[in-house]
Amino acid sequence: MFNVDEIRKDFPYLDIRRNGKPIVYLDNAATSQKPSQVLDSVYNFYRTNTANPHRGGHFLGLKATEAYESAREEIAKFINANKTEEIIFTRSSTEALNEIAYSYGNSNLKKDDEILISILEHHANLIPWQRVCEKTGAKLIFSYLNDDYSLNYEDLKSKINDKTKIVSITGASNITGEVINLKLIAKWAHENGSIFIADAAQLIGHHKVDVKDIDCDFLVFSGHKMLSPFGIGVLYGKKDILDKMIPFNLGGEMIEYVYEQKSSFAEVPLRFEAGTQNIGGAVGLKSAIDYLNKFNSDDISSYERKLTEYAYDLVKDYPNLQLYYPPKEKAGNILTFNYTDIHPHDVSTIIDSLSNVAVRSGHHCVMPLHTYWNVSSTCRASFSFYNTKEEVEIFAKSLKEVRKVMGL
Ligand code: ALA
Repeated sequence: MFNVDEIRKDFPYLDIRRNGKPIVYLDNAATSQKPSQVLDSVYNFYRTNTANPHRGGHFLGLKATEAYESAREEIAKFINANKTEEIIFTRSSTEALNEIAYSYGNSNLKKDDEILISILEHHANLIPWQRVCEKTGAKLIFSYLNDDYSLNYEDLKSKINDKTKIVSITGASNITGEVINLKLIAKWAHENGSIFIADAAQLIGHHKVDVKDIDCDFLVFSGHKMLSPFGIGVLYGKKDILDKMIPFNLGGEMIEYVYEQKSSFAEVPLRFEAGTQNIGGAVGLKSAIDYLNKFNSDDISSYERKLTEYAYDLVKDYPNLQLYYPPKEKAGNILTFNYTDIHPHDVSTIIDSLSNVAVRSGHHCVMPLHTYWNVSSTCRASFSFYNTKEEVEIFAKSLKEVRKVMGL
């Protein structure tokens, strides 16, 4: 049952006061807030279960292994993976994309092959591919947008050809908020024999993610954007592809035999988890999934979408306000904007000091999209299911006041 007043009781950040007023946290695309249930699970793990999994055969070691591996099982169920081994723990989506680029990309691409991404991609789904291209001689190809800020699917489709070996696309833009039809793009990629990678960093926790339904070969996400602690992320890969990959990170616990001059590697997934992992993070991620599982994911998406639409409707006629918002049916939980005559850093600082409204300003780790739009930076409000209509109204009111503060 989705009841925002009840949900808000679980989020301790709402007790913070600055100048006697609460924080209106609208920077959820940068990181989500964490409910008490997640915080308690991590605290309890460290208090009662600290030990290194897969190493000690003692009581606490075995319990830590169970905690770590049960988190893996829970994640596999949450994204509907075929096998638990298809879940690899990483530090973040960024690390997961780097792992795919160097373990898969560097060994499978050759000169003149093509990697297709979109201009919406976050730097993590861009710079690793630039490095693969430098090393292999492959080319990085971009698909662009329509004038209404939405992804141009025709353009994307027309760029898939017999040289395209990898198609790697975000599931939701961290700037326009557009929710992308990953299933359709995966189908086009597979009809062409290309590998399809889904970057679910901004999708998961807001929308249902089903790797079988999308039919992606790889999918990545970060825990911290979906109620979990920092420093834990996931690389999902189809088992038959992972089995053939040589890991990029090498070290303890990812081996089978180690000799003075060579080594062989463990089975998937441990092969990709060199060194001591973030076990507390995995426990927190499991607890975040338990928390999200209490709700219908469609209720979360539709609530967040309506909140964002409400924000759009309140501010759309403000003078000199440019909104980078796609058609409503494609939009998600993000509203990016700029006053054409006020620097975005000034806007975010003013609304923060006036009303404790937290939005992000800058290029949001997507510089090429800003260059494409011919702006250096933007402001971004990103909404979560624990935000309210009243908070949207505070945001809209303070955004209006910015002009007065600037003497405009
Ligand atoms: N990728 C995060 C953002 O969009 C940090 O803000």
